[in-house]
Amino acid sequence: MDTLSCDLLIVGGGAAGLRAAIAAAAAVPDLDIAVISKVYPMRSHTVSAEGGAAAVIKPGDSLDAHAYDTVSGADWLSDQDVVEAFVEEAPREMLQLEHWGCPWNREPDGSVAVRPFGGMKIKRTWFAADKTGFHMLHALFQTSLRYGSVRRFDEWFVTKLLVDDGRCQGVVAIELATGKIHGITAKAVILCTGGCGKIFPFTTNANIKNGDGMALAYRAGVPLKDMEFVQYHPTGLPQTGILITEAARAEGGWMLNKDGYRYLQDYDLGTPTPEPVLRSMELGPRDRLSQAFIQEQERGRTLEGPYGHYVNLDIRHIGEKVIDRKLPFVRELCRKYANLDPVRELIPVRPVVHYMMGGVHTDIMGATPLGGLYAAGEVACVNLNGANRLGSNSLTECLVFGARAGRAAATFAAGAPAPAASVEAQVRDEERRLEDDFFNASGRTERIADVRSEMQSAMEESAGIYRTGASITAGAETVGRLQAHAQRLRLEDSSRTFNTELTAALELGYMLELAQVILRSAEARTESRGAHQRTDHPQRDDERFLAHSLAYRTDGGPPRIEYLPVTITRWPPGERVYGR
Ligand code: FUM
Repeated sequence: MDTLSCDLLIVGGGAAGLRAAIAAAAAVPDLDIAVISKVYPMRSHTVSAEGGAAAVIKPGDSLDAHAYDTVSGADWLSDQDVVEAFVEEAPREMLQLEHWGCPWNREPDGSVAVRPFGGMKIKRTWFAADKTGFHMLHALFQTSLRYGSVRRFDEWFVTKLLVDDGRCQGVVAIELATGKIHGITAKAVILCTGGCGKIFPFTTNANIKNGDGMALAYRAGVPLKDMEFVQYHPTGLPQTGILITEAARAEGGWMLNKDGYRYLQDYDLGTPTPEPVLRSMELGPRDRLSQAFIQEQERGRTLEGPYGHYVNLDIRHIGEKVIDRKLPFVRELCRKYANLDPVRELIPVRPVVHYMMGGVHTDIMGATPLGGLYAAGEVACVNLNGANRLGSNSLTECLVFGARAGRAAATFAAGAPAPAASVEAQVRDEERRLEDDFFNASGRTERIADVRSEMQSAMEESAGIYRTGASITAGAETVGRLQAHAQRLRLEDSSRTFNTELTAALELGYMLELAQVILRSAEARTESRGAHQRTDHPQRDDERFLAHSLAYRTDGGPPRIEYLPVTITRWPPGERVYGR
């Protein structure tokens, strides 16, 4: 066991993590900063983001319009001070990224090109074809290399936060190449580990998205906020969950049911037109489109295949030239993963879990209630996205709130005392726990894959697009039973080098804990709002639930749920209207 040290440790090397590192290095140049990531940074999930990032840039658009779209899309559960800060800082961040090398698409006159995105009244989504995340991550990664004060621990897996004296003082991590356990002490830590879509069976999320940071913070006593709000993206490939970007609809794609009918016209989302119409039909918000899919399914108007029900996305009329220029990745994905060419064929799609609106409770600067611990990006709930995130707000969120968290944590670290020597004992305890639980254990019978698939099915059945109190409670009981099974996981691989079975077991532990939080938060919210639709409580209830849920870990029992009022600055709660 070795203990290393730095001033500021950032866990996660995606867009939020790298933006935080750059901001911290620029704010306090002599700070010793480390980025630790379980994958090489360019393999972080940001790389797979496709459609674009929102920020006001065009004449006719305004910060207020972006803010209002975000607040109403969120079904009024966003904190409006956070939304106002976000829309104001977004354009600066996006231009900054261009200066760092991100190749935004241009209009023929040379200005930045924007496309429409779901739930936005005006075109404001910047894009780099349909590989926006790849280009953004590249620009951030190469910029981070300019800072000598930023070093990296690539392919290290964090198992625990070190907490002493009411302050986060570092982490314990496994160096995956050797299997060695290390303590890394730090005066401040920023979690930027992304979401936890892999709790569900069909998801756009990469295998690495297991909620590591959420679970680490929760186990350290930090509450998780708004975890009941799970976003389904309406267009994933049925067999793999791979994302077919909303940009395909922004460029004019149609959603067709089994009769070849544009069924979204029946769901108060606008009328069909040959061109995409902003904020209507196929460009409605994601929660509404995913709910419409289930209603079509219940009416017997979806198709059925080996991976369940689906509808078709038709982009044939867009034409090969535009598809190759603006949606080349959609074509590549369809060819490779569905064996079809969307220039000539329909694309089968179904709603798949895409994003967690909830996460680690932070304030507007990314600070959690635990001293020295910050969070940014999907792992965090800064209160921007409320009950339903609008597509293309999250890449921008990673920039705006990654930068804020980076600056705030750097300032905190610069003034904080050195980590306490007593954390060494915690590192040794954690090393012993990992050895005892996974390498020295005998009589273990449970297989990781069995427990994981049962959890995923239970989550889809109990906390999917529509939920009831009974389905949620049944799901929570199943997950409770699986948590007990997970105490008896058997590892067949006892090697120390890149032991992916060990990391899968640790990730499963994180996911089961978060599954409970999602279910218990959903059980307590007896209303319907945004992505949380309770058929036994179909109305939004602002009287009781214009509030964020906070789930606190308890000893052995279910989480304790408390509520925090939503901050309203300028837009009082109203009706979400899209079709009229
Ligand atoms: O469909 C998409 O390209 C997804 C974008 C987002 O989630 O922001």
